[in-house]
Amino acid sequence: MIRNKKKILVVEDDEYVLGSIKSVLEDDGYKVSTASNGLEALSFYRKVQYDLVISDLKMPQMDGFELLKQLKLEYPEVFLIMMTAYGSVRTAVEAMKIGAYDYLTKPVSAEEMRLVVQRVFEKQNLIIENRALRKELEERFSFHNIIGKSHKMQQVYDLIMQVADTDATVLITGETGTGKELVAHAIHHNSNRKDSPFVVMNCGALPETLLETELFGHEEGAFTGATKQRTGKFEYADKGTVFFDEMGNLPLSMQTKLLRLLQEKSFERIGGNQTIKVDVRVIAATNRDLNKLSDEGGFREDLYYRLNVIPIQLPPLREMREDIPLLVTHFIEKYNKAFKKDIKSISQNALNTMMSYHWPGNVRELENLVERAVIMVKGHIINDADIVIPNQKQRMEGLEEMLEGRITDNSLEIFLAHCEKTYITKLLKQYKGKIYSSAKISGVDTKTLYRKMKKYNINKNIFKD
Ligand SMILES: Nc1ncnc2c1ncn2[C@@H]1O[C@H](COP(=O)(O)OP(=O)(O)OP(=O)(O)O)[C@@H](O)[C@H]1O
Ligand SMILES: [Mg+2]
Repeated sequence: MIRNKKKILVVEDDEYVLGSIKSVLEDDGYKVSTASNGLEALSFYRKVQYDLVISDLKMPQMDGFELLKQLKLEYPEVFLIMMTAYGSVRTAVEAMKIGAYDYLTKPVSAEEMRLVVQRVFEKQNLIIENRALRKELEERFSFHNIIGKSHKMQQVYDLIMQVADTDATVLITGETGTGKELVAHAIHHNSNRKDSPFVVMNCGALPETLLETELFGHEEGAFTGATKQRTGKFEYADKGTVFFDEMGNLPLSMQTKLLRLLQEKSFERIGGNQTIKVDVRVIAATNRDLNKLSDEGGFREDLYYRLNVIPIQLPPLREMREDIPLLVTHFIEKYNKAFKKDIKSISQNALNTMMSYHWPGNVRELENLVERAVIMVKGHIINDADIVIPNQKQRMEGLEEMLEGRITDNSLEIFLAHCEKTYITKLLKQYKGKIYSSAKISGVDTKTLYRKMKKYNINKNIFKD
């Protein structure tokens, strides 16, 4: 049998005993070194960290106890077997107390020696394996600020690693707050483009003409007000990554331009003739179903296929409930630091409440909820009462109220827009036009809220005191 050559140091002042132990162990395939007293053994160990030390107890200069104490001090994980005189169980127990792994009583038979040494290494291998496993698990619990150990998240990590170093276009889909932007960052930072820019383009935030200037830049005098030449995001992101957020909102005319860029890797600035070549990687994200959108004519089918080379679908939080405790712990730590608080844990009741909620706003909603709890809690524990989960019944009643007698058209889209508008108006009224608080409580980001306010022509100022 080929053994992994474990290194053993035998410490014994009796040359004859030393020699016979050495030969038994060497016969078993171990690599054996010897020392004739504790001091010598200590100096050897400092040079080579042996897998196991077998030491006699009574020796001149430094005895076995002293050696063990010193080794434990310097190398807490040392494995040592103490050899004690026949019948002196007390000393053996003493040795175990200060950290010997096992003991052998003298005279030691070859058989017993083999057995004990074998047992030590079995245990040692298990510890090493466990440690490696734990480390791997710890690493796999999180990935560039993305937290989650559920099978679905592990698949996401795998996908990120597989695609990061390629130039493939990635389409990240998932409901709001599932971490699409986090994943886009992780891809960029694991790619060989990581030292070049990561540029975010929010397709929903700007009107079409501004969007075009942002992306492609313009020449001086290209239009009224273009007093200077301007570099667009594509040019700026050369050798890096452009992240198109809310891709489903990109106007059709811009979709055509983006398609050309993806195909030819070139474009012209607005008002310019010079073709500019760029080397950019495109990552897109959307919480809309682009396939469906393209069936309905709202999204170019060819662009959809171009983007969807590598799809990464992020699971909603309700489908990875086992990650909730991990995420809660992560956000408690994050907001403890941010607000200089010292929340130690969360009660089981509070956790149960969180585990049974359906989380329409996904991880963002959970993060906001924990942030709020960390701020509000007085003691060190978050209790059920500190968890403010929106009352679903109230929400539904609110919606029904909105519907009553007002909707004449049967279109779902109009109904939803109506609900959204009423909701946002109510929300801003309740929070006196404060965007940050309103966004936070509703589970969308401020950018999204602004965009929607613009869409429905809602002016926050009318809600101020
Ligand atoms: N798995 C996760 N681990 C840790 N934090 C997360 C995770 N998923 C989301 N978050 C946090 O939730 C918030 C929302 O994430 P992100 O902006 O990436 O979501 P999104 O999918 O882009 O949402 P939207 O569609 O609304 O733009 C961020 O603060 C982010 O850090
Ligand atoms: Mg986003």
